[in-house]
Amino acid sequence: MLDAVERKIEQYIAELDDKDAEALYRRLPAGKRLRARLILTIAGTSLPVIETAAVVEMIHAASLLHDDVIDDAFVRRGKASLNALYGNKTAIMFGDVLYSKAFHELVAIDRRVARVISNAVVQLSLGERRDVLLGDRFNPDREAYLSMIYQKTASLIEAASEAAAILAGKNPEPYRTYGRNLGIAFQMIDDLLDITQESETLGKPAMHDYEEGKTTLPYITLYERLEEKEKEKLIALHGRRLCPEDQEWILGKMSTLGVLDRCYAEARELVEEAMALMEREGEARLEAIARSMIERNY
Ligand code: IPE
Ligand code: IPE
Ligand code: MG
Ligand code: MG
Ligand code: MG
Repeated sequence: MLDAVERKIEQYIAELDDKDAEALYRRLPAGKRLRARLILTIAGTSLPVIETAAVVEMIHAASLLHDDVIDDAFVRRGKASLNALYGNKTAIMFGDVLYSKAFHELVAIDRRVARVISNAVVQLSLGERRDVLLGDRFNPDREAYLSMIYQKTASLIEAASEAAAILAGKNPEPYRTYGRNLGIAFQMIDDLLDITQESETLGKPAMHDYEEGKTTLPYITLYERLEEKEKEKLIALHGRRLCPEDQEWILGKMSTLGVLDRCYAEARELVEEAMALMEREGEARLEAIARSMIERNY
């Protein structure tokens, strides 16, 4: 099923009729295709559904091209990122091409779907900006973190689920809630994996968020659990290059203070709520997607 989405994206890229854009697209590995998978699982494989899935994956890819510029990240999906290969300008411009082609196709699919998805991209962009603004200094505020990850990540997953329900003629409400919970948990897990996994497994930099100034949930939780002197040390490391001893100190404290377990539990609670909703709808495959999302290691 996902094959049809790949072919649709390739068709959209070919329609650009631009050799350079086609060559750049060939440099992008596909990724997990979570958002397309959700859309197809909710709504089947009719043409508007395949088109919506293709559009959403192009939007997501564009957001990652820009994200790697913003985050100074040189590895993506296990390969050198476009900004690493060709510089920031190319990554930004090709991101713009993907965004605008996606919107061009989106408006022709369904007006309601276009409203839902385009609004999510506004939220995603505001969320990316909020992430950078929060990175100016150590951020101990959970609420600020939660609303930022809702905007930058959950909004598009929520919108993908809602749009799919609209196309399938299903009641959008439970699907929207499912997508929101899954999306927030998805970013929480992404933030945990940054700490617990090797770069090779992730296919992107590891232990990179805190150096980039991102006070993700494990750092907020760690801060709450540290002694006064240690709090100062953690803040002093924020936004700096971490030497191996600093990394080990952070990891050691996180594991002895139960920080990682606590953060996983928070993500799991959200996913379980999402799964319960889908159980009520008789959507066993969506339950399975939620479960595999929490169990992933990349
Ligand atoms: C990465 O998203 C960005 C986040 C929202 C954490 P994915 O983890 O879905 O990226 P790909 O598409 O599989 O590479
Ligand atoms: C999510 O944030 C990025 C977008 C929503 C575009 P991250 O910066 O954590 O994503 P990764 O870790 O680079 O994939
Ligand atoms: Mg990033
Ligand atoms: Mg980022
Ligand atoms: Mg990340």
